[in-house]
Amino acid sequence: MEHIVINGQQPLVGKVQIGGAKNAAVAIVPAAIAANGICIIENLPDIKDVQNLAASIEKLGGKCRFLDEGKTLEVDASCITTHVADYDLCAKMRSSYYLLGALLGRFGKAEVSMPGGCDFGYRPIDYHIKGFEAMGAKCVLEHGWVKVSAEKLTGANIYLDFPSVGATINLMLAAVFAEGTTKIENAAREPHVVDTANFLNMMGAKISGAGTDIIRINGVNELGGGRYTIIPDPIEAGTYMIAAAITNGDITVENIIPKHMDHLTAKLRDMNCQVEEGEDSLRVYRNGDLKGCDVKTSGYPGFPTDLQPQMATLLCTACGASVVTETVFNNRFQYINELKRLGANLKVEGRTAVTKGNCTFTGAQVAATDLRSGATLVLAGLAAKGETTIGNIFHLDRGYENLESKLRALGADIKRVVVEE
Ligand code: UD1
Repeated sequence: MEHIVINGQQPLVGKVQIGGAKNAAVAIVPAAIAANGICIIENLPDIKDVQNLAASIEKLGGKCRFLDEGKTLEVDASCITTHVADYDLCAKMRSSYYLLGALLGRFGKAEVSMPGGCDFGYRPIDYHIKGFEAMGAKCVLEHGWVKVSAEKLTGANIYLDFPSVGATINLMLAAVFAEGTTKIENAAREPHVVDTANFLNMMGAKISGAGTDIIRINGVNELGGGRYTIIPDPIEAGTYMIAAAITNGDITVENIIPKHMDHLTAKLRDMNCQVEEGEDSLRVYRNGDLKGCDVKTSGYPGFPTDLQPQMATLLCTACGASVVTETVFNNRFQYINELKRLGANLKVEGRTAVTKGNCTFTGAQVAATDLRSGATLVLAGLAAKGETTIGNIFHLDRGYENLESKLRALGADIKRVVVEE
């Protein structure tokens, strides 16, 4: 078992290169199944979820080859021999649900285990299923498997009750091969939805409107391969921007799309941070003491739920009270119990967490409860007086590439240690 050990209160200073977007990568790698040719996907983050998706494609009979230290992946899906995905690999991650849409679209059938991933409470996939059924598929949930099949997929009008990222992308994946036009209304507008649509269009799909709340997909018979570079990770970038503020440091996040960070930039400026925008970078440092502010999560371009835990942690250290409201998931404050071991003064009522601010974290032994909670504990540990030990760091490895080395290069005293179970 591995732990991360941090000796806190070092101001982090310097430049950090941001990797490819996890949530774009975990959609685009399965989307490569749709191609009847070789896809080369560049700027991938070197993380466990991407490795597990590549392994899943290999178990289906496809060929995957990592190049450039894991940052590029060559996928040849022309040799896929089965529509039944590996149960254990898929149960480890949420994004395995994209294999459903990709296999259903290309082969008319798919069997994938119920997805795993971070536990934020109830995370159903009923919108995905409803959408596949609207296109003519039959769906059965049995013995932990989701089984979908269709004689023929037909374009349909699909309205999502909530702009679900997963459902929007999954339905696009199936609809690229459906006969006629599919219209997805109340679609998610996240940058990784747009990135996945751009990747599919590069292969010959006919998708328009991605990035707005209505996406139209005109079905085609076949997609070819191609080369594609995925967007930088806004959540990784946001985590380092918050690291600059929480350690009273000065960090420039590079290789990003500043526009994708507008939600966080606005909040950091409200909190009395200086955020300087370059063409593909943002520099963050404090102007003086941090001020509290209120944050409410929502779909893009609103404040992302994936930065809510990190932001709530920063707000604990500001002068004055702040209110954090979570509107996307019904149980995304689980990290707070662990954060309290480090001294956090957050009080939760339903979907709202309130902090009085003025908190100084002190080192303690804690454990990550999910991916972003792990990042949150790292941030608190970086700000804390004394030593913090973080367990369950396999969560972090699912989504942050080279976390310790990137933080060490900025001046953090952080290491990974192996401990006996
Ligand atoms: C994706 C991201 C996750 C991010 C989330 C919100 C991936 C692999 N994961 O998760 O990092 O936190 O978007 O930006 O990209 N819902 C239903 N039924 C469904 C689908 C969703 O009720 O069929 C609900 C969910 O319970 C949740 C809300 O819709 O309350 C949003 O979920 P969704 O956008 O689908 O999140 P994920 O795709 O699971």
